[in-house]
Amino acid sequence: METYLETTKDVYREAALVPDVGLCCTTNPIWELPGLSIPKIMQQMNYGCGSTVHARDLTHDPNILYVGVGGGMELLQFSYFSRKPGGVVGVDVVDEMLEASAKNFVEAEEQNSWFNRDFVTLKKGDALNLPVEDSTIDVAAQNCLFNIFHAEDLRRALQEMYRVLKPHGRLVMSDPICNQPMPEALRQDERLRALCLSGSIPMADYIKMLTDVGFGTIEVRAKRPYRILDPKNYATDDLIYIESLEVAAIKDPMPEDGPCVFTGKAAIYYGDAEYFDDEKGHILMKNQPLAVCDKTAQAIAALGRDDVFISESTFHYDGGGCC
Ligand SMILES: C[S@@+](CC[C@H](N)C(=O)[O-])C[C@H]1O[C@@H](n2cnc3c(N)ncnc32)[C@H](O)[C@@H]1O
Repeated sequence: METYLETTKDVYREAALVPDVGLCCTTNPIWELPGLSIPKIMQQMNYGCGSTVHARDLTHDPNILYVGVGGGMELLQFSYFSRKPGGVVGVDVVDEMLEASAKNFVEAEEQNSWFNRDFVTLKKGDALNLPVEDSTIDVAAQNCLFNIFHAEDLRRALQEMYRVLKPHGRLVMSDPICNQPMPEALRQDERLRALCLSGSIPMADYIKMLTDVGFGTIEVRAKRPYRILDPKNYATDDLIYIESLEVAAIKDPMPEDGPCVFTGKAAIYYGDAEYFDDEKGHILMKNQPLAVCDKTAQAIAALGRDDVFISESTFHYDGGGCC
């Protein structure tokens, strides 16, 4: 086993035993929902960099898998929607983290009359070799773990998620990304990598890893400021800006002309007719924005029309649209 994976376990063993409030930081507010009370210890052990819990993913009584449990906060949030014994399976490779989160779920049970600790099943296991049957999961999630992995391990972790998902199931992820080159000294620093600071890759590469594994639809849901690595404190000549990305990858079949990647673009027809039909399945009603994936945006733009506007990516796509 590569040493950085062992270093990662050591980092999270420590973070399980003594909560490290500054470990991962995010501008996301903690979910506030009627009747949901998140124990303080779970908030202190929030080692994620965004949110993977979206109510609209959680219709139709889904089986939910969460890899890398941390203090358990997101598993409690998922349970809020699933509310059934074993509805959320949490997998983690660090015994101390499994023990800490199990303790936190007891506290959550005391604070939330709707919650029963049986709603969450905790399993010891590795993201690179999930202890989960093929095609059994509707919604799989990970927050701030996969960015730690080197490319080969990241591919393996994504293949594992793909394997356990049912057809049309979705993988919801939040991870740091960095569009600047990361200096090699930082990239090879096992502890910084484990702390989710130096393993991040550019957004386009991150999305390509997902589509290479076979996910036919990608939704970029949010992109937020995350961290700065500055020359005074880190081995870098330049200021490095890291963002956190929330993405859903859906196990739809791969379209023949390539994946549908939604980054928040819309097409608006403003011509003289009632609508514009590109004859590829996209009908733009006059003056009504239609969310389009990047592939469709590019194809419509290539038509060179002067009555269709294509907006820039907002990196805030939350459903609907062309495909
Ligand atoms: C950065 S923390 C994120 C925790 C949680 N997702 C959150 O948002 O608070 C990474 C988590 O992944 C776990 N972990 C580390 N390596 C792992 C591996 N190879 N397989 C499964 N879990 C792992 C750690 O123990 C820790 O709970």
